[in-house]
Amino acid sequence: MELTEQIQKCAKLLRGGGVVAFPTETVYGLGSSAFNEQAVARIFEIKRRPYFDPLILHIAHSGWLDELALDVPVSARKLIREFWPGPLTVVLPKKPVVPDIVTSGLPGVALRMPLNEIAIKLIDSAGMPLAAPSANLFGSVSPTTADHVADQLGASVDMIIDGGPCAVGIESTVVSFMTGTPALLRPGGTELEKIESIIGKVMIPNRAELVNHSPGRSEQHYATAAPLLQINDINEIPTAESKVGLLSLVPLDSSGFPPNVKVTEYLSEDGNLREAACNLFAAMRRLDAFGVDIIAALPVPNMGLGMAINDRLYRASKK
Ligand code: TXA
Ligand code: MG
Repeated sequence: MELTEQIQKCAKLLRGGGVVAFPTETVYGLGSSAFNEQAVARIFEIKRRPYFDPLILHIAHSGWLDELALDVPVSARKLIREFWPGPLTVVLPKKPVVPDIVTSGLPGVALRMPLNEIAIKLIDSAGMPLAAPSANLFGSVSPTTADHVADQLGASVDMIIDGGPCAVGIESTVVSFMTGTPALLRPGGTELEKIESIIGKVMIPNRAELVNHSPGRSEQHYATAAPLLQINDINEIPTAESKVGLLSLVPLDSSGFPPNVKVTEYLSEDGNLREAACNLFAAMRRLDAFGVDIIAALPVPNMGLGMAINDRLYRASKK
């Protein structure tokens, strides 16, 4: 089926209460109409996601913002003007039209406009915002290709649109405007430095505060099948396991590796953090597919997209 036809078919499914997977610039999303509570409930079921973990609404026009959010502070408008469409999600006080199942009963709604033509056309043809988490089983690695989605959820979704690999490859940055100070709920595809250059200092909640703001930000997430261990340098590569997979930012000289390192994945030839973020989830999946006993992951510089990469590695290590 031609792409335009696929989009039309999906839009029709969505209008009828269906659940479809679609590409965005960050990761593939599992979407339903934001206003159909039963369809939204099906997303939670398909993903086996706990109901306390709220969903992002995806919109196609900035005009929809004021229909869903009660109050949009100037700083949020500034970020939206700069980064939409793109990998930025803002959490704002919700209007009553947003069903509680979408926000897990929280007073805020998370909104974003994706930078992906297929996603925008789909939302536009469906004619309503789409509630969409990443299209993976709860707790596992996010999908950056349609095959990743099909492997986990192929049997349970109504349709998958294949838009090729995601351009950014890591989820959106989530900034909350629910208290006086903007707060970073999740580092992601829009660099914190760029956000702060526009609205000034953004609060970074500690772990306890984070769970209050965003109950879904549980530590166990992005889990690979093999345990993932964060190491500081190659001297910390574990020696007890027989098959170690090594994940590093750049290619390394393997002559210094212990013999139990059976496979290595590097994220960027020259340490480019944007490229690295884009490759991260697929690299984690490949290490798993190789059947390693443990994945040893080296840190990346904690700046720009490196913050999002380190966040995902940290969460993947908490099992
Ligand atoms: O890039 C992305 O954001 C992808 C694509 C598909 O758009 N979506 C995504 O959704 O990553 P999900 O559900 O996997 O992650 C959404 C994050 C969670 O950490 C959730 O807790 C937070 O956003 N969130 C959603 N709604 C919220 C709300 N009302 N208040 C606070 N946090 C919220
Ligand atoms: Mg997710």
